Amino acid sequence: DSPTLVDRFGRTATDLRVSLTDRCNLRCTYCMPAEGMDWLPTSALLTAGELSRLIRVAVELLGITEVRFTGGEPLLRRDLEQIVAATAGLLPRPSVSLTTNGLGLTRRVDGLVAAGLDRINVSLDTLRPDRFRTISRRDRLDDVLAGLAAARTAGLEPVKVNAVLLRGVNDDEVGALLDFCLAHGYQLRFIEQMPLDPQHGWDRTAMITAEEILAALRTTHRLTPDPSERGSAPAERWVVDDGPGVVGVIASVTRPFCATCDRTRLTADGQLRTCLFARSETDLRGALRAGASDEELAELWRGAMWGKAAGHGITEAGFTQPDRPMSAIGG
Ligand code: GTP
Ligand code: 5AD
Ligand code: SF4
Repeated sequence: DSPTLVDRFGRTATDLRVSLTDRCNLRCTYCMPAEGMDWLPTSALLTAGELSRLIRVAVELLGITEVRFTGGEPLLRRDLEQIVAATAGLLPRPSVSLTTNGLGLTRRVDGLVAAGLDRINVSLDTLRPDRFRTISRRDRLDDVLAGLAAARTAGLEPVKVNAVLLRGVNDDEVGALLDFCLAHGYQLRFIEQMPLDPQHGWDRTAMITAEEILAALRTTHRLTPDPSERGSAPAERWVVDDGPGVVGVIASVTRPFCATCDRTRLTADGQLRTCLFARSETDLRGALRAGASDEELAELWRGAMWGKAAGHGITEAGFTQPDRPMSAIGG
């Protein structure tokens, strides 16, 4: 009956990432085909009540202290405020955060903050409307920028921006994205692309590496390592010039951080995954709907985490992508 989620490699999972839907209202080329995906039927999705139950078990019985909601696009859930409120109402209160594409955030952010949302990460790959249309296949850059501004006005701190760079598409915007984020007080992180796309189009040589990103940033800014504790954060952070602005790089591929991983994940259809790249899932939804007790659910969760792999193995020979793409697993 361990009160924590430990694995064979001595890691403790304290961070629960919950995908609330596999659907999205953008169609970013590196994430989905233009026509979208075969979405999960509504009956497969965890309801707000089921989500609240599993999150409660994770917090009360398993030592989870941080809950992040992702998707697909989590704002597509109309019951998001209710789910956030249920999570923020738990004791000990976990921190509650959201990873979103920002569409519709202007109308929701005040309600989300009132419900208990603490932090937000918004995806933004380009500042140029034409490129936004090319990358996301939708003409919505202004909505994203308005969403970001609304998040800051609502008092969320920090507001983080996630940028994925694509060679020959937006890789010349490293400096522009940083200057924009510094000017608005957003914390920018550049992300190395991982092999999680349904088209299986990922190519190691096409991926923009952390090293390239840092070299590009250093042509215009002085970067010094951020002295604050990194812990298990995926982003390596640098103070820009004399501060206070910082920039991060999430180098999942070239500098993996699996050895300090503190994550456990729940898909929108209630499957527990120990890692983005896990080879198997544990059916918590099935157990829940069959009437499992809190302690039985907790025991399933502990057992699954014990089997968590040491790392993702992306650069190892024989690596194959997980069966489900990032939009279904949760970003
Ligand atoms: P905070 O540091 O708490 O703000 O969260 P985060 O950076 O983990 O959250 P976010 O959802 O914004 O994720 C940013 C990027 O990190 C994602 O786009 C992924 O590329 C990467 N990422 C998220 N979760 C994982 C993970 O479990 N493993 C790896 N290798 N990368 C991840
Ligand atoms: N590799 C890395 N990051 C990705 N994202 C989507 N697909 C990938 C991928 N294959 C990012 C999105 C968003 C975050 C949730 O995940 O751009 O910022
Ligand atoms: Fe953790 Fe897996 Fe991500 Fe590595 S790839 S940081 S083990 S979730």
